Amino acid sequence: MAFSAISCVILGLLILVMEDVALHAEARAFFVFGDSLVDSGNNNYLATTARADSPPYGIDYPTRRPTGRFSNGLNIPDLINEKIGSGPVLPYLNPRLRGRALLNGANFASAGIGILNDTGIQFLNIIRMYRQLQYFEEYQQRVRALIGARRTKQLVHGAFVHITVGGNDFVNNYYLIPYSARSQQFALPDYVKHLISEYRKILLSLYKLGGRRILVTGTGPMGCAPAEVATRSTNGGCSAELQRAASLYNPQLVDMLKGLNRKIGKDVFIGANIRQMNLDLITNPKAYGFTISKTACCGQGPYNGLGLCTMASNLCSNRNLYVFWDAFHPSEKANRLIVQQMFSAPTKYMDPMNISTVVALDSRI
Ligand SMILES: *[C@@H]1O[C@H](CO)[C@@H](O)[C@H](O)[C@H]1NC(C)=O
Ligand SMILES: *[C@@H]1O[C@H](CO)[C@@H](O)[C@H](O)[C@H]1NC(C)=O
Repeated sequence: MAFSAISCVILGLLILVMEDVALHAEARAFFVFGDSLVDSGNNNYLATTARADSPPYGIDYPTRRPTGRFSNGLNIPDLINEKIGSGPVLPYLNPRLRGRALLNGANFASAGIGILNDTGIQFLNIIRMYRQLQYFEEYQQRVRALIGARRTKQLVHGAFVHITVGGNDFVNNYYLIPYSARSQQFALPDYVKHLISEYRKILLSLYKLGGRRILVTGTGPMGCAPAEVATRSTNGGCSAELQRAASLYNPQLVDMLKGLNRKIGKDVFIGANIRQMNLDLITNPKAYGFTISKTACCGQGPYNGLGLCTMASNLCSNRNLYVFWDAFHPSEKANRLIVQQMFSAPTKYMDPMNISTVVALDSRI
């Protein structure tokens, strides 16, 4: 009698645990790839100069501490995951990412990287794109050991994937120094074509590794980043050369994504026109509650656009009034407005559809 009561309890507990695992496997996992715009702390574990793990980074994060995010608070993937994910998504290198935490997904992004392997060499040890994809394979092996091959495949196919990369191929490669190797090798239009064709290979690998809903963001209006306004602009306007790069690159990216979707026969890739979303904030800051759109909140020199954001930098008191947190990265407030657009904007911004539509379509399957 006692024996069977105990075995009932044990059986009951076992069922509870298994249901719990199953539930987690069915909620939507979230995977993130790319650069500092989406890195949530992988670089904290690396010997690199591209890091955001000291104050005042994180000053508005819930813990008020730096986490490795290049933001005063949350970044874009945090805000997307808040709406559609199943729980916290940890950096892949974080030792706490094990066991059930794996089922929420993982963030493989690394600040400083680009589409090309030679982008960001000045930052030394960073996780380049091909390596992020290798980690994604390794991640899937680990999840298979946990929930089996069939459920792992379901988890990956059902996941929402976000990739942001490409800006560094301009600012930290082609335009990093005058007469850079890449600018000697390619005229800008040819460089853009080269980037697009290399990016296409990366995106196909991501599809082959199981990505079925992949949000791909273009580059921002790079010439309007405080760093570029400070170093390249003659009149305080956006740098014309970097704006030209962004306006060549982004439409070709959208065309490439459309081509991939046609080839696959499904809308796997969703393009987000970050350039336009961000430009709206910069050209009409008051309409969005900002007062400052060209000067970074944290930094030094003209437009707070020179050097790094550190404890020695100028720091604004109200981050919500600034489009840019540091010389390159938007504030949490700007990130929130961009994510709002991603969920609700028309096809001019989200092609072929916004995230609300994606979520509605996928929930019907
Ligand atoms: C980047 O480097 C890796 C490892 O050496 C290599 O497999 C990959 O093909 C390279 N990618 C490009 C675009 O050169
Ligand atoms: C998203 O896109 C669809 C289709 O373009 C549109 O009808 C809808 O208003 C947009 N916003 C939301 C919140 O769904």
